[in-house]
Amino acid sequence: MEAKTDPQAAAEARTAQTLSDIAQQEGFEETSDPALQESADRGKAKLLSYKELYLLWERQHWATQELDFTQDRIDWHERISPEERFQRMYGLSGFFIGEQRVTDELGPIMRACPLEEQRIFLSTQIADEARHVRFFDRFYSEVGLYEGADDLAERLRRTEENLNESFGQLFDDLLHNRVDRLAAEPEDIEALVEAVTLYHMIIEGALALTGQHFIIEYNTEQNTLPAFVKGFNNVARDEHRHIAFGVRFLTDMAAEDDKYRQAIQRMMAEALPIADGVLDPPWAEEDDWDLFGYSRAETHAFAAQCLTRRLKVIGLA
Ligand SMILES: [Fe+2]
Ligand SMILES: [Fe+2]
Repeated sequence: MEAKTDPQAAAEARTAQTLSDIAQQEGFEETSDPALQESADRGKAKLLSYKELYLLWERQHWATQELDFTQDRIDWHERISPEERFQRMYGLSGFFIGEQRVTDELGPIMRACPLEEQRIFLSTQIADEARHVRFFDRFYSEVGLYEGADDLAERLRRTEENLNESFGQLFDDLLHNRVDRLAAEPEDIEALVEAVTLYHMIIEGALALTGQHFIIEYNTEQNTLPAFVKGFNNVARDEHRHIAFGVRFLTDMAAEDDKYRQAIQRMMAEALPIADGVLDPPWAEEDDWDLFGYSRAETHAFAAQCLTRRLKVIGLA
C-alpha cells in the first residue's frame, strides 16, 4: 500500500483524475492538447492540423462584454477577507501581466513561422491573447480591484508591483530577448523553436494552465466570482488550443531535424527552473506552502504531468 502514502504518487493520481475531468468539459478535449488525452501517457495523441486548429478557433468564440460581474463585485468586497484578497492578487496579477506580455510578444513569432497555415493560426492566437487581457482588465475595473485606477495602462502598472523576480526573468529576459532576436532574424528557425518551446510549452502549458486550474477549482468550491470563473474557463479552453498548436509545431520540427530536438531540450533546461519560481508565491519561504487548498507538491505535480504528456507526444520523454 506504499503508493497511497507516497505524496508524489497521490499527487499524480489526483492529477490524472483532474485532467480527465477537465477533458469532459465542452470543447476541451476537442482542442487536441495531449495533456487532456490519456493515450499521451503512451506517447500517442490525436493532434489537429494547423487548418483544423484555425477552424476550431472560429467555432470557439466568446465575448468579454457578455460577462456580468455584479455578483463578483459583492463577493470580492464582502465575502472574501482582506488577507485572502492579498493572496488571490498574486495569482491574478501574474495572469493579467502575463496575458499582456504574450500578446505583445507573439507578432515576431508568428512572422517567423515557415508555413502560411502556421502564420494564420498564430494570427488568431494574437487576437485571443488580446481578448484575455481585456477579460482581466474588465474584471479588475468592474469588480473594483484598484480604486482610482482609471485605464488599462494604470491598472497594469499597479498590478506589476505584485510580481516576483522569477516572473521578470521569464517574461522580460528569456521571452523578450528571444523574440527580439526573432524580429531581427526571422529566418533563424532554431530561435523560433526555442521561442515556441518557451511560449507554448512552458509559459502557457506548464505555468498558465496550472494556475488557471487551481484558481478555477478553488472559486468553484468556494462558490465565489461566478463571472470570473465563466470567463477564465473560456480563457483556459483557448490556452489548450494554443498549446495544441505548440505541440503540433514542435512535433513537426523535432521530426525534421535533430538540431530542433536539441533546441527544445535546451530551452526546457534553461527555463523550467525559472518557471518553478513563478509558481511559488513570494511569501512562501519554504518548500511546503499551501495555496487555495493545494500543496506545493500537488501544484508542481500537475504542471509536470501535463508537460510530460506533451513531451511524450513530441517524442522527447
Ligand atoms: Fe492567454
Ligand atoms: Fe495563449
